[in-house]
Amino acid sequence: MLEFKQNLPFADADGCYELLDGNRIPAIGFGTWRVKDREDGAAVCADAIRAGYRHFDTAYLYGSEESVGEAIRASGIDRSEFFVTTKVWKDDLSAEGARLELETSLSRLGMDYVDLLLIHWPRRDSEDPEWRERLTETWNAFQQFKREGLVKSIGVANFLPHHFEALEGEVPVVNQIEVHPGYLQKEAVRYCRERGILVEAWAPLGQNRLMTNPVVESIAEKHHVSPAQVCLRFSLELGLLPLPKSANPDRMRQNRELFGFSLDEDDRAELMGLPEKTGWSGEHPDDAIPMPDLSKL
Ligand code: A2P
Repeated sequence: MLEFKQNLPFADADGCYELLDGNRIPAIGFGTWRVKDREDGAAVCADAIRAGYRHFDTAYLYGSEESVGEAIRASGIDRSEFFVTTKVWKDDLSAEGARLELETSLSRLGMDYVDLLLIHWPRRDSEDPEWRERLTETWNAFQQFKREGLVKSIGVANFLPHHFEALEGEVPVVNQIEVHPGYLQKEAVRYCRERGILVEAWAPLGQNRLMTNPVVESIAEKHHVSPAQVCLRFSLELGLLPLPKSANPDRMRQNRELFGFSLDEDDRAELMGLPEKTGWSGEHPDDAIPMPDLSKL
């Protein structure tokens, strides 16, 4: 059974978690998957800044790095007030590949460092016999990037417990995985929690699929909040860091308004008891996932 926190370690949406390396990370991040570098990408990120977000989650893969960088520069708010995460994609898991991607990401962001760099996906596909060696080499390179000041913190994404065994040296400070009511990944969350690794939850709203779930809806009605707020509060009470995405300014704001209510034991039991894989994306870290066609996102 996963433990819930009765009291959150912060009182509002500007609160932070402390990472294993001592750095602080804002407890609610803005997900930018699909905020691709289209015409209004920077405008979406600017709306998010106006809504209060200071933590942006991007990736080499997402095509949103230029938008994030542009919006942060245009905001007039100091770079140091923001927490920016980017990720190295699975096709470049080598020392040289990771360095090239990081350099490209920094140039797209227009920044000289990122706050957090993640290995985006643990292996190329289910057939890749050398995934362990690739992870070891890439992780060693990440530690070097940190020594060089190109990144402040380093972590992983979509790692299950067996993937961590390939890493040497520093413990990753973050594992970003899909977690939401209906897809709890209990083993991975427990593994991380035991080691002090902060779990970030991608798709905390089940990519919209939980917004019409009757259990989530009835809990939302009971507390006079929205289904999204129920899912996000659930994330925080589990000690996770949710990364909701929205292109709508009202919903961006709503997704930070999570501190006027809390879930009770019945709510938690109902959410924990949703049928396994409710709202799941269908993506498994050990399977091949095709390189998405960014033009169709
Ligand atoms: P929109 O951009 O129109 O707000 P996830 O973060 O789990 O990937 O989910 C993202 C999806 O959830 C997007 O389709 C987004 O649509 C929608 N969404 C985000 N916030 C809310 C909200 N507060 N209420 C309803 N839907 C939301």
